[in-house]
Amino acid sequence: MRKTIIAANWKMHKTDKEALQFMDEFAPLIQRQLVYIAAPFTALESLVSHESSPSVFIGAQNMSEHYEGAYTGEISVKMLKSLGVQFVLIGHSERRQLYHEGETQIASKVKIALQEEMPFILCVGETFEEYQNGKTEEVLKHQLTSALHGIHSVDFHNIILAYEPIWAIGTGEAATPQLANQRHSYCRQVLEEMIGKNFAQSLTILYGGSVKPENAKELLNESEIDGFLVGGASLDPQSFAKIVNC
Ligand code: PGA
Repeated sequence: MRKTIIAANWKMHKTDKEALQFMDEFAPLIQRQLVYIAAPFTALESLVSHESSPSVFIGAQNMSEHYEGAYTGEISVKMLKSLGVQFVLIGHSERRQLYHEGETQIASKVKIALQEEMPFILCVGETFEEYQNGKTEEVLKHQLTSALHGIHSVDFHNIILAYEPIWAIGTGEAATPQLANQRHSYCRQVLEEMIGKNFAQSLTILYGGSVKPENAKELLNESEIDGFLVGGASLDPQSFAKIVNC
């Protein structure tokens, strides 16, 4: 049985105080286990010490591909671990597109996160143009194999995958449940070739891109969709709780 995980990605929203206000309102509302919140760096310390439910995991939205050194403005995995941060997002499309993170950089982050036993959510997904040109599978395969090349099957307990078609992020137009299911199934197939059927079958794959209280249940009913990575609709405690409890 795969774990169902509902994750929030707050992006560049919420000060530390706003994050705590969110938690005060959100924590009593949730019924499901395994809720992940990827918060801004500046809110992490407050959130990890908040007495929310033990099933709320606090994570960062990015980390450096280096261990330490002269990298002004960067945050290392060691710094995150020392704060008590429990997971990190790697390769979100906004990092790939707006900050030009390439496959080599993403693969280095994956490697460091695994070495330091920092669980992570690896994000993959195609642009609208790639989708229109029928290139989705090619893109997904490339992203998965470059990020996870040389990874051992045993490391997979620290890995969660998120399929996020870029054309669905922040647009209000989610992929249909059938399409998302098909893409998840394809990702699993690629992983099967890399790590074998058993490990690939036990990997949690989240869907991200315009998930809202109105479409969450229908998406989660699909056999290959094991949860969500939610942006916009995770900012409001009531709306995120509806998705978590769907
Ligand atoms: P969205 O963002 O839910 O606002 O579409 C998802 C994401 O970027 O992870």
